[in-house]
Amino acid sequence: HLFTVSPETSLEFKATHNLRKGVIIGAGQVGMACAYSMLIQNTLDEMTIVDTNQEKLQGEVMDLVHGLPFVTPSIVRGGTLADSADADIVIITAGAKQKPGETRLDLVQRNIELFKKLIPEIVKYCPQAILLIVTNPVDIMSYVSWKLSGLPSARVIGSGTVLDTARFRYLLGQKLKIDPRSLHAYIIGEHGDSEVPVWSNASIGGMNLCQGDLLASDRQINSELEEVFLQVKNAADEIIRRKGATCYAIGLGVTEIVEAVLHNQNRVLTVSSLINDLHQIEDVYLSLPAVVNRQGVTRVLRISLTLKEQDRLHNSSQVLRQTIETLDI
Ligand code: 2OP
Repeated sequence: HLFTVSPETSLEFKATHNLRKGVIIGAGQVGMACAYSMLIQNTLDEMTIVDTNQEKLQGEVMDLVHGLPFVTPSIVRGGTLADSADADIVIITAGAKQKPGETRLDLVQRNIELFKKLIPEIVKYCPQAILLIVTNPVDIMSYVSWKLSGLPSARVIGSGTVLDTARFRYLLGQKLKIDPRSLHAYIIGEHGDSEVPVWSNASIGGMNLCQGDLLASDRQINSELEEVFLQVKNAADEIIRRKGATCYAIGLGVTEIVEAVLHNQNRVLTVSSLINDLHQIEDVYLSLPAVVNRQGVTRVLRISLTLKEQDRLHNSSQVLRQTIETLDI
């Protein structure tokens, strides 16, 4: 032998220790954007990507691992759920995606059939994992995953309006010339057409956007801001029309959620979680600012809303509730 590797330094040795292990189901554009984002941010020590299309999976994994010399070392492989028995988190991106002109809710029955097979397998092989659902319609698929899995609801999280909230902060930041990291504004409710902007809580540097000098009662600025919300709501359609799918921003958003879980950050994110007895909403998954940590979603914040915002949120919950009632699960 030219040289030997002592067991202490080999990856196999590391693997017996407390590694951050994640599984991505689906090697499509969203799954691979999540994989790439987590790879370059060193989010996981071991990443397994699972897909039914073995050829595509192999190609994607080869393409990723050839970049390993450029990043913090980690294990990246294509595999099966059976290879991932002790995963900390399973990220589900598999499923049909919207064609131009389709809404997220149009996908529901196609994706439910897939989840009926998938979720019991995940629970069987990765019984300790947090499930992070990204597949659309994400609020419905999260509810379905919770029901099919039998897991405590805290451990089944949807990516929800994390992406819409990022779009909102980015676009508002552009309009108001403020770095989006210094601007707090949430999109809540459905990740979809009934989503709700929470203008009454939007703030910059502790200053409320609606009450401060920034907006005062300037009608023109107010209508420009309403236009910002429309851009947020229509963002996915606009992108799908131009390039067929969205993937990069959701990949970054998923990374934030995974980090909040694995590093036990208690981070407040607008993930989709089971809502009961809040804003008169019962038994539905939707997004509200919630605390995300190693246990999953441990608290949903009771944010104050104006009557109009409450109405819109209630309407959003009804849209989801009505869809849930039509489901065959
Ligand atoms: C998005 O909002 C399509 O849900 C996806 O980008």
